[in-house]
Order: sequence, then structure tokens, then C-alpha cells
Amino acid sequence: KFEDFEVLFSSEELQSRVAELGREIARDMRDSENVVVVCVLKGAVVFMADLIRHLPMNVTCDFLRLSSYHGGTTSRGNVRFDFDLTQPIAGKDVLIVEDIVDTGLSMSFLLKSLEARNPRTLKICTLLHKPARQKRDVPISYLGFTIPDRFVIGYGLDLEGKYRNLDYIAALK
Ligand code: IMP
Ligand code: MG
Repeated sequence: KFEDFEVLFSSEELQSRVAELGREIARDMRDSENVVVVCVLKGAVVFMADLIRHLPMNVTCDFLRLSSYHGGTTSRGNVRFDFDLTQPIAGKDVLIVEDIVDTGLSMSFLLKSLEARNPRTLKICTLLHKPARQKRDVPISYLGFTIPDRFVIGYGLDLEGKYRNLDYIAALK
């Protein structure tokens, strides 16, 4: 229920932070001829759609989906590709766009997997980071906001598939 949530970041706050991230990324990658923006579905789709409109250089976009099974009470994440990129990334400047780094298991798996394909550079841009629950050290090149250990929804993030369409981010009370 909506009453159980409180707004953490308004639409305006998100839009201005995303624009700043876009400027940072543009400054660093402006001269690259081969930027591939990789959206990690489904959560990052809203963030990615806004972010790429703040990038002035030519980019191509690709998509992948991971599925994770965080087994029982152990800390071992079992992450795999649900579906993969449609193009090779060797020699390309790859920017992974993610909604949230929580335990870090997904991004640590993805970095390892994509690194093996020999991109020229490989960086992570995540809107949110929840350091309290982190189990793997993940190098984050571009970060929107650090958040406390709370479950968040909106702006792409879901609860049981819902609330991705909210233009703000809210936390469970
Ligand atoms: P992890 O870093 O491997 O633990 O997984 C991160 C993924 O878990 C994200 O891509 C989200 O899909 C999901 N996730 C983690 N925390 C939240 C949250 O607070 N709200 C919604 N999804 C979350
Ligand atoms: Mg995700």
C-alpha cells in the first residue's frame, strides 16, 4: 500500500542528479568513439532512459538481464544471465547502468563476465548504493545516491513487479 512508503527522492531531485551524472560521464567519455551503454533489466530501464538523454556523444544501447538466487541463509549469490547482450563488446567503452547495488553479488558477477570479453574500458554507473548489505566489493565509477538499509521502490525499482512507473523513489516505512 502507498501509505506504507515515504518519499526518499522526489522526481525533481532524481532529474537533477541524473543530469549531473550525465555531465560527469560525458566529461570522461566524450572522446570515445565506441560507447556501449548497458542497461541491466528491468530495474535500470527508467534511469537509463533519462541518463542517455544527457549524453551528448554517440552511444549505442544494449540490454541484459540477470537472475539471482540468493540461496537460503548462506551469503553465496548464484547469479546468471537470463539473457545476454546482442553484440560483442571487445574494444568498446562499456558503461553498465544499474538501479541499485545492494549485496554487490550481481555487479561482481557481471563485471567478471563482461571483463572476460575484453572491453577497452568497463565502468559501473548505479543510481543507488546500499553499503550496509554489501558482500562484495564493487568498484562504482558513477553513483547517484547512497541510501540506508531500507527497501525502496519507484523510478524503475519494484516490489513484486509493481511501482516501477513512479517518478520518485520511496522507502518502505
Ligand atoms: P545485489 O546487489 O546483487 O544484491 O542485487 C541488486 C538487485 O536487487 C538490484 O538490481 C535490484 O533489482 C534488487 N534490489 C536490491 N535492493 C532493492 C530495493 O531496495 N528495492 C528494489 N529492488 C532491490
Ligand atoms: Mg536490478
